[in-house]
Amino acid sequence: MPTKIEKDAATGQMTTGHEWDGIKELNTPLPKWWLYTFYATIVFGIVYMVLYPAWPSLSDHTKGALGWTQRGELAQKMEAEQQRLAPIMARIEATDIADIRNDPELMGYVAAAGRVAFADNCAGCHGAGGAGAAGGFPSLADDDWIWGGTPDQILQTVSYGVRNANENSRINDMPRFGVDQLLDRAQIDDVAEYVLAMSGTATDAAAAERGAAVYAENCASCHGEKGEGIVDLGGPRLNDGIWLYGGDKASVVHSITYARRGNMPAWAERLDPATVKVLAAYVHALGGGQ
Ligand code: HEC
Ligand code: HEC
Repeated sequence: MPTKIEKDAATGQMTTGHEWDGIKELNTPLPKWWLYTFYATIVFGIVYMVLYPAWPSLSDHTKGALGWTQRGELAQKMEAEQQRLAPIMARIEATDIADIRNDPELMGYVAAAGRVAFADNCAGCHGAGGAGAAGGFPSLADDDWIWGGTPDQILQTVSYGVRNANENSRINDMPRFGVDQLLDRAQIDDVAEYVLAMSGTATDAAAAERGAAVYAENCASCHGEKGEGIVDLGGPRLNDGIWLYGGDKASVVHSITYARRGNMPAWAERLDPATVKVLAAYVHALGGGQ
C-alpha cells in the first residue's frame, strides 16, 4: 500500500513509499557503474547483430553488414600462408630431387612439410613414418624397393601410382595361377616351398626341389632367376624375408593362387606438383633411398 516517501531513520536512506505491515521498502538504486555497463552491453549486442551474422531463419541466417564468416577468415589465412610458401614451393617444383637433397633450406622444408603431407595422405596405408602395414602396404623406410628407390623412380611411383586408371600408372599383374588353373595344387605347393626355401623357411625339401623347375618356367620372368626381384617390372624380391602379404606358407600359397594386385593412387591427380615432389623427396629421405 503506497504511503509517503520519507527518510528512513535507521539508515538515513530514502524509502520507496511502499509499505507492508509496517515494513517500509528502502530505495536502493542500482550502482551507476553497473547500470552503464548494462546499457553498454545492450548497445554492443545491437551493433554486433548489425555487423555480424546473428539471427537464424528457417533456412538461412542474417549475414551482417561486414559480410564476415569464419570460413572466409580461414580461407584468407590459408591464402596468405600459400603466398608465403609460394616462392619455396616454386623452387622445389623447379629443382631435381637430387639437388633438393643438397640444399639444406629446401631439405628443411621437405622434412617439415613432408611429414605433415605424409601423415595426411600416406600414413593411412603405409603406416606412421612409412613403416609399412600388413596386407600389401610396403615399408618406405627400408631399402627394399618394388618399383625402385632412386629419386626419379620414387617420384614416378608417387605421381602415377600402381595399378590404377591413370595412363602412366605402374602396372604388372601377376597371373592368378590357381584360380585360372595355370598350375595345379601340387605344383603350387611345390613352388611355394621353393619360394620359402629362398629365404630359408621351407619345411619340405623334396617339394622345394620339384618347385625349382616350376619357378624357372613361371615366375623368374617377373621375380628374377634367384628371386632377387625385377625393379623395372615391379616384381618384388622373394629371397629377402621381407613380405608384402606375409611369409608363412598359407600366405605364399594364397599369393600364388589368387595373386594380390595391390593398388596405389596416382597422387599427381590429387596433389599439386610441388607437394608430390616434397613427398617423393621425403620418402627418399626416410632411410632407404638409393
Ligand atoms: C590406398 C593405400 C595407399 C595410399 C594412401 C598410399 N599408398 Fe603408396 N602404395 C600402396 C600399395 C598397395 C603399394 C604397393 C603396390 C605394389 O604392390 O606394387 C604402394 C607403393 C608405394 C611406393 C613404392 C614402394 C616400392 O617399394 O617401390 C611408394 C614410393 C609409395 N607407395 C609412396 C606413397 C606415398 C608418398 C603416399 C602418399 C602420398 C602413398 N604411397 C599413399 C598403397 C597406398
Ligand atoms: C607377370 C609378373 C609375375 C609373375 C609371372 C609372377 N609374379 Fe609373383 N608377383 C608379381 C607382382 C607384381 C607381385 C606384387 C604383389 C601384387 O600383386 O600386388 C607379386 C607378388 C608375389 C608374391 C607375394 C610377395 C610378398 O612379398 O608378399 C609371391 C609369393 C609371388 N608373387 C610368387 C610368385 C610365384 C611363385 C610365381 C610363379 C608361379 C609368380 N609369383 C609369378 C608379379 C609376378
